[in-house]
Amino acid sequence: MQQAVRIAPSILAADFARMGEEVRAITEAGADYVHIDVMDGHFVPNMTLGPDMVAALRPYSDLVFDVHLMIAPADPFIEPFAKAGADIITVHPESGPHLHRTVQMIKALGKKAGVSLNPATPVDVVDLLLEDIDLILCMGVNPGFGGQSFIPSTLDKLQILRRKIDACGRTIDLEVDGGINMETAPQAAAAGADLLVAGTATFKGGPEAYAGNIERLRGGR
Ligand code: DX5
Ligand code: ZN
Repeated sequence: MQQAVRIAPSILAADFARMGEEVRAITEAGADYVHIDVMDGHFVPNMTLGPDMVAALRPYSDLVFDVHLMIAPADPFIEPFAKAGADIITVHPESGPHLHRTVQMIKALGKKAGVSLNPATPVDVVDLLLEDIDLILCMGVNPGFGGQSFIPSTLDKLQILRRKIDACGRTIDLEVDGGINMETAPQAAAAGADLLVAGTATFKGGPEAYAGNIERLRGGR
């Protein structure tokens, strides 16, 4: 049976000129988390926003701010994002030499820590961190852009990660990010994801469509 999944709209697909209103709109439309993609034009070939934007958006929503750092190095920016209002801070293992230390740094600031796996990053990277992390983000595309097609092998990876999480017995979100739409959302959920990031599929059709889009992604009609 398919589990109830939560939806984290990626504001990468929102209207950047009206970002506060967009965050308010997805909050009112029933989103569970606000997924904030931070890109530096170095770790990934695109640039988005920094801690000041996160702080500016904070008054627009009481939802969890799920901040996905696609920057290298990440360590110097952990504290600024924590102070700006991030609730979860997720890093890629490739963004620095000491993933364990980065995770501890996030936790020492009182925030939840996530680790993100690129399509070619082995799942074993999380094995020695399962006692420490609160979220595993499994990329469904190569990071950098919204609107890409879901890579099918992500489903196998999600199944392996689901087994690891269940075996460790802790509460760890299994988030899938990239290429999630009405077709791939149920596949990812069936493979074990319990938190779906959706940019294009949430923001398609403008604010009047957000509630329906989120409900359909969650598995409703
Ligand atoms: C990609 C980002 C994703 C992206 C998802 O690098 O991490 O969060 O915004 O966009 P869609 O849902 O359009 O694939
Ligand atoms: Zn993301």
